[in-house]
Amino acid sequence: MTTTPPASHSTVTTEAALAAALWTVRRNIDVFGDRYPDDTTRDDRYPLRPAAGGFPEGGNRGWTTSFWPGMQWLAWERTGDTAFRDAGLRHAADFARRVRAGEDLETHDLGFLYTLSAVAPWRLLQDENARDAALRAADHLMRRFLEPAGIIQAWGDLSDPAQRGRTIIDSLMNMPLLTWAHEQTRDARFADAVRRHTTQLREHILREDDSTFHTFYWDAETGRPLRGATEQGAHDGSCWARGQAWGIYGFALNFRATGDDELLGAAWRCADYFIAHLPADSIPYWDLVYTDGSDAPRDSSAAAIAACGFLELARVDVDPERAARAQALGETLVAALAADCAPRGPADSDALLLHGVYDLPKDRGVDEGTLWGDYFYLEALTRLADPDWKSYW
Ligand code: GLY
Repeated sequence: MTTTPPASHSTVTTEAALAAALWTVRRNIDVFGDRYPDDTTRDDRYPLRPAAGGFPEGGNRGWTTSFWPGMQWLAWERTGDTAFRDAGLRHAADFARRVRAGEDLETHDLGFLYTLSAVAPWRLLQDENARDAALRAADHLMRRFLEPAGIIQAWGDLSDPAQRGRTIIDSLMNMPLLTWAHEQTRDARFADAVRRHTTQLREHILREDDSTFHTFYWDAETGRPLRGATEQGAHDGSCWARGQAWGIYGFALNFRATGDDELLGAAWRCADYFIAHLPADSIPYWDLVYTDGSDAPRDSSAAAIAACGFLELARVDVDPERAARAQALGETLVAALAADCAPRGPADSDALLLHGVYDLPKDRGVDEGTLWGDYFYLEALTRLADPDWKSYW
């Protein structure tokens, strides 16, 4: 475990990095209109989301579309430019349509999707249509809660034997939608699901050495924990970098929601492992089995998510030394991203961050920009620019 932040990167100021990112988001609104970019860039440029499964090109499907309006809400808060707000509201209406029409909802990712597209405009503008959409999405997500295991199933149809009883570390980020729904409705089902799901992940997906499995299976009939396995990592026993980052941020957010100190401890365990396995320049390899000197691709999105996790820990950890360390680590990661992964200008890319990896084993989005990496980089810059920023999560 390292106890001090890796070397600091100071060549790009937060203000300059934020200004460049906001400029790109503004320009991308003109390019994409009300349609959605794909999950990742291709040769550093976002194509429109391809037509598939009856959805048109640029249509609202998959798990990443909300990161696009999420960036617009962050940009509106920073600039006051109504072009960002108006674009965000048009996407909120489309997400309301998606949930009412029941389009592509059979996933735990409803949390990612509706926190950024609908809870955010509810929090910022008290948009009632957005509130209704987010509550519908939270209700739909609860259909995936499996008794007696006490987990939300991540992927697939609930009757699919290959996915039954399986959840993944990323799911921690889907819990804030349920926490918000509990705050809105006082329906105890939501808070109970958050408490039980996060406890199961802390006990089973987090390994004894503080690394994490990407995914874990429970016996859906008996609730017995079965085994860990990877889907996007190097191998079942490795530690997928983005999964570890989801662990840092996800456990920290769920500590804030529940007040459960064990979740704060889990966030720090993920954090210390992550920091101890970073190369000297602070941008993680796509899987933490790779170390300095490897030519494996990096995953800038893992660094952006981890940065948000550290900046959240800096707020919620009441121990002043730990909070200061978390702040310093968050700042170091953001500085490294701004210096080494942000494009130098519009000719380089229309992403906010280069050098992400979506799914290397399936050769998807390797060394490309990613919609979620862009969102979390902008959120981390926002957190640095405004320490009082009110979280959408
Ligand atoms: N949540 C899916 C991923 O991180 O690739």
